[in-house]
Amino acid sequence: MTAYADVQDGSERLSGDELAALQLKRLRATLLRAYERVPFYRQAFDKAGVHPDDCHSLADLSLFPFTTKGDLRDQYPFGMFAVPRTEVRRIHASSGTTGRPTVVGYTDGDLSTWADVVARSIRAAGGRAGQIVHIAYGYGLFTGGLGAHYGAERLGCTVVPASGGMTDRQVRLIQDFRPEVIMVTPSYMLTLLDEMERQGIDPRATSLRTGIFGAEPWTEEMRREIEERLDIDAVDIYGLSEVMGPGVAQECVETKDGLHIWEDHFYPEVVDSFTGAVVPEGEPGELVFTSLTKEAMPVIRYRTRDLTRLLPGTARPAFRRMEKITGRSDDMIILRGVNLYPTQIEEVLLRTPGLAPHFQLRLTRENRMDALTVRVEARREADAGQREAAAAAVVRAVKEGIGVSVAVEVVPPETLERSVGKIKRLVDLRETPRVG
Ligand code: DLL
Repeated sequence: MTAYADVQDGSERLSGDELAALQLKRLRATLLRAYERVPFYRQAFDKAGVHPDDCHSLADLSLFPFTTKGDLRDQYPFGMFAVPRTEVRRIHASSGTTGRPTVVGYTDGDLSTWADVVARSIRAAGGRAGQIVHIAYGYGLFTGGLGAHYGAERLGCTVVPASGGMTDRQVRLIQDFRPEVIMVTPSYMLTLLDEMERQGIDPRATSLRTGIFGAEPWTEEMRREIEERLDIDAVDIYGLSEVMGPGVAQECVETKDGLHIWEDHFYPEVVDSFTGAVVPEGEPGELVFTSLTKEAMPVIRYRTRDLTRLLPGTARPAFRRMEKITGRSDDMIILRGVNLYPTQIEEVLLRTPGLAPHFQLRLTRENRMDALTVRVEARREADAGQREAAAAAVVRAVKEGIGVSVAVEVVPPETLERSVGKIKRLVDLRETPRVG
């Protein structure tokens, strides 16, 4: 641990008491800001009969109401902002349960905080100023690419903004530019590894030393495989756009024992998914975050739907850890880093002529990458030509609207298996992920 002490910032060295005092001060200011500036929060607090002045301790946060993805969607596009639109310097968005995305906004100050927490994350992962960082998270409305980018620049690295896709080019850039650090989804890392081997390159001989993987769940087995095949340290980064983006929590390379939550900016609680009650530290449940420093879009008790448990800090003693995410309490699918819900597919099917709204999604793993097949029943009157055109139209609409490639199989009417009249919407045929 001492080997890394010289590269920790002031907040990482706070004592537990100092951190708690800072959190309470920031929490009270955030509750007040939300109440005074965002009509949604004022109504929600009033309805629950609480006022920001009622928060005298961190535990009092549990008096305040939750915020859900549905709430953010109802305020589409800018209803959650706590600053005039002209002070919002950047917008990101992620998919919601329906076609409407969830929009998030950042002030100059927020972008700076975000760069700071990502820089801190890269350092905790073992990255250092002066190194080259290859970023293969997607750039665009998704927070992965730009979030990683500004953090790596803040740390003082040289950034290669490769974004996702064009696998052979990624491999060439890694060979030619010789980055020490790579930031990418773990599943795409496996694809890059396969491509290196296909080209006759020994992955263990590349310049890479550190891999910072997140945006989707991955297992200890995958860590072992990536570390072994690539001869690097592979660590986990967590985040979500509603709370900030990547850099909410980061695994430290010296312990690799779960992710330290950057609690000076993001206050975590774990609650029972059904009752909403806060569970004691160490008990599993749903992760909930309250932002402590966000200006443009403070979030109060945001239900992430991610399942984990909180553990005491190790490599950064003041900050609690979260265990690797073990699953979600809703039906969101993360396909190659892109979030999608069965209801989004349903919307596409409903507006495609020749198709009935009876469908099943089948998740498989092909060539180490997750793949999604949409099986949908044709309408009786649709002939072979119409069925084929419908399949192609769905592939196109999902690619354009959600941003992922899926396969579509149009099957005859009444052929999908029903149990008590219902078709199981999602069949997961990948091997069950095991968490070590
Ligand atoms: O995925 C932000 C991100 C980008 C994190 C790059 C890490 C690296 P969203 O698109 O809003 O944001 O999706 C957030 O992705 O609620 C989790 O379900 C899942 N997720 C993110 N990181 C991890 C991780 C970005 N390390 C949702 N392990 C979250 C498991 C993760 N799941």
